[in-house]
Amino acid sequence: MALLDGNHAVIWGVANRASIGWAIAQALHREGATLALTYESDRVESRVQELVDQIPGTLMLKADVQKDGEIESVYDRIKSEWGHLDTVVHSIAYAPKEEMVGAFIDTSRQGFNTTLDISAYSLIGITRPAVSLMPEGGSVMAMTYIASRRVFPSYNVMGIAKSALESIVRYLASDLGPQNIRVNAISAGPISTLAAKGVPGFTRFKQAYTERAPLGRSTDPAEVGDTAVYLASHLSRGVTGDVLYVDEGYHVVGF
Ligand SMILES: NC(=O)c1ccc[n+]([C@@H]2O[C@H](COP(=O)([O-])OP(=O)(O)OC[C@H]3O[C@@H](n4cnc5c(N)ncnc54)[C@H](O)[C@@H]3O)[C@@H](O)[C@H]2O)c1
Repeated sequence: MALLDGNHAVIWGVANRASIGWAIAQALHREGATLALTYESDRVESRVQELVDQIPGTLMLKADVQKDGEIESVYDRIKSEWGHLDTVVHSIAYAPKEEMVGAFIDTSRQGFNTTLDISAYSLIGITRPAVSLMPEGGSVMAMTYIASRRVFPSYNVMGIAKSALESIVRYLASDLGPQNIRVNAISAGPISTLAAKGVPGFTRFKQAYTERAPLGRSTDPAEVGDTAVYLASHLSRGVTGDVLYVDEGYHVVGF
């Protein structure tokens, strides 16, 4: 029997085959999970469709996390198709382009609000309506980055969003623990994706991991997928409110 046989998982935030959400989808599928993938808009629909076609039986659902009605529609569909849910993966982030260039001090109020709404609040927004579908417990996980704790040039307001996201993980873990719903984050090292391309200097960050991380290489998205399998499975049943680093050990290095 595979580790995730009978597990039903929704992965929020797949844009294309480079998405971390897709690496997670492949790993969860390999271990037997049944999947739903959400995508933000028509802009990415055809690329997501190509991925969904590779895993027959996968639901493909459109939802912008700034629209509560679209979030509700995702769970209505999951309820009617599956009746319940075991795993929720949050793999969503966005900051307006102008907020990722220049100095952090120039962050605009509007840019701050948009970034925090899409990249952090959305974890609350997609978790709350999932709870009633998890009567016997479940696992919620979000993708974060070490810029939540340290300063990375250009990461700017997204660093603040990641700090908020990690704090939300802890508060949700406290709220939902009594219902046996665990909430954790995976802090991945740099991976070349659509979102990463929006961070000026990203290639330099990635290079630094090869040079300084104890494992001496950059992060493979499949490693993140395998950690997601652990968090979705009973193997992590005692783990909640935590941030697991999948960054080749970069976060422990001082110099
Ligand atoms: N790539 C990296 O180096 C890296 C490292 C650590 C953490 N992360 C995190 O991993 C997660 C996934 O990012 P990725 O790197 O796979 O890039 P990606 O661009 O493939 O994924 C980001 C997703 O967010 C979605 N999104 C943006 N605004 C949305 C909205 N309003 N409603 C719904 N969806 C929306 C995009 O459509 C996309 O699917 C993000 O939280 C990111 O910060 C990435």
